[in-house]
Amino acid sequence: MLDDYHLFTEKVYTKLGIDLQQYKEAQMKRRLTSLREKRGYQDFITYFNAINKDIDLLHEFVDRITINVSEFYRNPKRWDVLKDIIIPLIKTNTKELSIWSAACSTGEEPYSIAILLKEHFPDVKTKILATDIDEKVLEKAKQGLYLEQALKELPANLKAKYFNRNGSQFEVDSAIKSKVTFKKHNLLEDTYPTQVDLIICRNVLIYFTDQAKDKIYNNFSSSLSNNGVLFVGSTEQIFSPNKYGIKLLDTFFYQKTNQ
Ligand SMILES: C[S@@+](CC[C@H](N)C(=O)[O-])C[C@H]1O[C@@H](n2cnc3c(N)ncnc32)[C@H](O)[C@@H]1O
Repeated sequence: MLDDYHLFTEKVYTKLGIDLQQYKEAQMKRRLTSLREKRGYQDFITYFNAINKDIDLLHEFVDRITINVSEFYRNPKRWDVLKDIIIPLIKTNTKELSIWSAACSTGEEPYSIAILLKEHFPDVKTKILATDIDEKVLEKAKQGLYLEQALKELPANLKAKYFNRNGSQFEVDSAIKSKVTFKKHNLLEDTYPTQVDLIICRNVLIYFTDQAKDKIYNNFSSSLSNNGVLFVGSTEQIFSPNKYGIKLLDTFFYQKTNQ
């Protein structure tokens, strides 16, 4: 018989299509237990019945599982490598570059790439798709309003050039906003886009089990065009990348090998 937590994960999957069993269990269970106890529920099934009825509790629950922290130019040295080595390597004069920011949270990452391209590669045609499982963060991403904290790694000249102050917040310029298409996508369930030249997927795979990661890396590899590049987060180096038909190009960048 399933225990309280596993029964809960099954009910959540049926309700939301989010499979908690593919996220590292100890970490996820700890996060959810503290939230459940804070709201005064004795066990996960009673907690499920509550989130099933109360939309605010449901939103709070989704917030807790998705962990939406992000910022512009997160780990700036990697963005320099992207500018100096990776984009020059994958750009062509003929074809539009297809870029996918997967698990983009509130949009800092896809807007960072749109700014970098406009600033340094104005002649390269690009299309940028940005996806996340959480509809609430996608709505915020589309608004493009940020606290100054999210901009702390962005070079000052770029902040001045691509943002407009709006009260205590900074709004990303409409020319940059229009470069990015946001869409809901679950990395564990949905079909992946194809012929992508650059996939940026950072700081989400750390939350998944090894089996889930395996599946996602294989999907990313199929998604990439020949010589396409996968850019991962700064704690997410891939062991044995050749297993997935990709090879290390530079720290945290992997290139599809032609097979
Ligand atoms: C910590 S944020 C990473 C944001 C950005 N990539 C960065 O590195 O700054 C993790 C994001 O992963 C998303 N996420 C979690 N599970 C997901 C899934 N199964 N499919 C797609 N996105 C997911 C969350 O909603 C959250 O916005």
